[in-house]
Amino acid sequence: MPTYGRQPVEFVRGEGCYLFDQDGEAYLDFVSGLSINNLGHCHPAVVEAVRQQVGRLIHTCNLYYTEPGGELARLISGSSLGGKVFFANSGAEANEAAIKLARKFGHDLGGEDKHRIITLAGGFHGRTMATLTATAQPEKQAPFTPLLPGFTYVPANDIDALAAAMDADVCAILMEPVQGEGGVRPLTQDFVQAARELTGRHQALLIFDEVQTGLGRTGRLYAYEHFQIKPDVMTLAKSLGGALPIGAVVASPRYSDVFTPGTHATTFGGGPVPCAAGIAVFQQLTAPGFLDTVRERGDFMRSRLERMLDDGLLTDVRGAGLMLAVDLPRPRAAEIVSLALEQKLILNNTSAETIRFLPPLIVTEDMIRRVIEFLKIALEG
Ligand SMILES: Cc1ncc(COP(=O)(O)O)c(C=O)c1O
Repeated sequence: MPTYGRQPVEFVRGEGCYLFDQDGEAYLDFVSGLSINNLGHCHPAVVEAVRQQVGRLIHTCNLYYTEPGGELARLISGSSLGGKVFFANSGAEANEAAIKLARKFGHDLGGEDKHRIITLAGGFHGRTMATLTATAQPEKQAPFTPLLPGFTYVPANDIDALAAAMDADVCAILMEPVQGEGGVRPLTQDFVQAARELTGRHQALLIFDEVQTGLGRTGRLYAYEHFQIKPDVMTLAKSLGGALPIGAVVASPRYSDVFTPGTHATTFGGGPVPCAAGIAVFQQLTAPGFLDTVRERGDFMRSRLERMLDDGLLTDVRGAGLMLAVDLPRPRAAEIVSLALEQKLILNNTSAETIRFLPPLIVTEDMIRRVIEFLKIALEG
């Protein structure tokens, strides 16, 4: 079905930071399958883990334990909120589970009255009906009304609006620490702090959607670490399975037993193969120096982009780590992305003015230089 505006290219192979078309032409990938191929394409450790697991055990369903599921849950929980994990199959499903967890938490505490969920304007949480309702972007929601009841939208970084929206009927605030699809817009420290305090005061959950920001993308294992707070619940997906489909919800110990047997489920979720891949991903991300290099490369790219602000070629540079975006003075972003493709560079635009950069976390300075040189020439033209 025509749900995607696809670029005119077909890829047949991927290796490291490059994709290859049918003619063997190499394309430098600064999209990473939308922050999925964060270790680069076909990382040998991921390929080997999948190869071994697929020959040993592919699926059991969640009526039984498997070792990779337990181990990946331990790695996620141990590196973040310390509680239990529910595995889903995508970002939307992870958020759907988090929304249900918040509603059940509200029910357990205050009955149906405590059901309202606050999300941020311009955010993105997925395309299922509940996550679309959480996605406060009217143009995406319009063809699918009526939406779910019980959601309130607040402008990002507006503390007064957030405080005004909070009440005893709120069961959760759900937000991305850096809005990804909305154009790479980080939340401010003060706003996140206010959300932490307000949720505490009103007995509501603070849920971070780290589907795009999580697992090293912003230069920290989790983006919440930039704000010196911890959420109560966090969702992950995208790069978690080394490019195999998997999502996860992790809750702090206090909220780990909100779901009880029979209250939520999925047949595929947490299967041994994507979990084995996820364990390999964690081993790479937590290798000594890995995240230091992500931060260095991110700083390098950001500083080179900021020089283009001085030249008037860009009007804004923002983001964290290797999740960066620039605004152009004119609405030429789609044209620049097409031009890049002609020159065997893969870029992405989130709007007519905004180009987003999500290179693999293993990107080199030379690769970044190539993209900067391309941008300079394209924007001067
Ligand atoms: C922050 C965020 N949440 C949720 C999603 C939805 O994830 P999926 O496409 O795997 O359903 C995305 C996808 O871009 C995302 O960026």
